[in-house]
Amino acid sequence: MSSVLASAENRLSSGVPELDRVLGGGLVLGSVVLLGGDPGIGKSTLLLQSLGRVNADVRTMYVTGEESPQQIALRAERLGVDGSDMLLLAETGVERIIDTAASERPRVIVIDSIQTLYTDHLQSAPGSVAQVRETAAQLVRYAKLSETVMVLVGHVTKEGALAGPRVLEHMVDTVLYFEGDRASSFRLVRAFKNRFGAVNEIGVFAMTDRGLKEVINPSAMFVGADHVDLPGSVTLATQEGSRPLLVEVQALVDRSPLANPRRLTVGLESSRLAMLLAVLHRHVGCALYDHDVFVSVVGGVRVFEPAADLAICVAIVSSLQNRPVPGDTLVFGEVGLAGEIRPVQRGVDRLREAQKLGYARALIPQGNVSRHLPAGIAVISAADVAGAIGLVFD
Ligand code: TYD
Ligand code: MG
Repeated sequence: MSSVLASAENRLSSGVPELDRVLGGGLVLGSVVLLGGDPGIGKSTLLLQSLGRVNADVRTMYVTGEESPQQIALRAERLGVDGSDMLLLAETGVERIIDTAASERPRVIVIDSIQTLYTDHLQSAPGSVAQVRETAAQLVRYAKLSETVMVLVGHVTKEGALAGPRVLEHMVDTVLYFEGDRASSFRLVRAFKNRFGAVNEIGVFAMTDRGLKEVINPSAMFVGADHVDLPGSVTLATQEGSRPLLVEVQALVDRSPLANPRRLTVGLESSRLAMLLAVLHRHVGCALYDHDVFVSVVGGVRVFEPAADLAICVAIVSSLQNRPVPGDTLVFGEVGLAGEIRPVQRGVDRLREAQKLGYARALIPQGNVSRHLPAGIAVISAADVAGAIGLVFD
């Protein structure tokens, strides 16, 4: 270990600050980044914009296997991307791609997409698991040997994991996924794995007619400024990487005609909902076995943090009783199986974010109460769910 010369990571900016943030401070030379996401979500757009904005003395190469060079050039023009220093290669044979890279020596290479590549050594079709694995392995080897940044685009396939980006996750240094509702304009890029930075860090973008624009104040985008009171609607402060994010959790509870009432979640884990319904029944006396329960996070954001528990519980009771929670109220807290509310990390940051956006009160875990809470936001706290529900609705 001590004989290995540990030189500082050599990073260069992707030209897109939100992307740099997700990467942990920029592209690391010799590293391989996988950018996954549904078709049409904006992967090609983001990477084209990024290549156009990296430093002028950094040679870049965009390898397209899906679109023709004319299509790419047309899009670059429309996006106002400066392509004068960008090599554009329409090629799907990985051996030819590596040969070209070795002679042209770009420092950043984008492969769009890995599913279109093939190697001469295998007979199977491009996009099959074997081809995706083998072509990626060759590109990874080249990136490490030549200190080149390799960005692989991977489509998430309809069938799920098969031959999608999942099969590559262990081979690459960084895995980023594009999230977002295609019907709306905003997009999240989230780090799922990062050997050079924190995971769960997110970058927030809006898709406009001139490509992806960075969103400076994402919370404002997800919750809106008007704080309306709606039954079943609760604002949650979630923590994504180093950044607090306010999102709206909505629940709809309705009498069910079905023998097995439906439990549906969008943007949340359904097993978590089942657990919270059991907690509400046992510890709050709120029986929902003859009700359908739908819970969603507005705007296509996905929240996996247990800190969402309390907001989900409050939203469900609010919908059941048809009584709104005041729209300027923020809620967060983890709920345990004993009905207790557990503290969550970085409570103060969450409160500060809410205060910035004009929230006047917050319901938080008792364990998060400290002397350092920001002034200007009225904090109520509870130690268990029954207490919290009582505070909100009685
Ligand atoms: P794209 O980057 O091609 O998606 P991916 O590479 O992930 O498949 O994005 C395509 C979508 O983005 C397409 O539906 C149109 C939209 N879009 C815009 O709204 N504005 C733009 O400036 C561009 C380039 C694309
Ligand atoms: Mg594309």
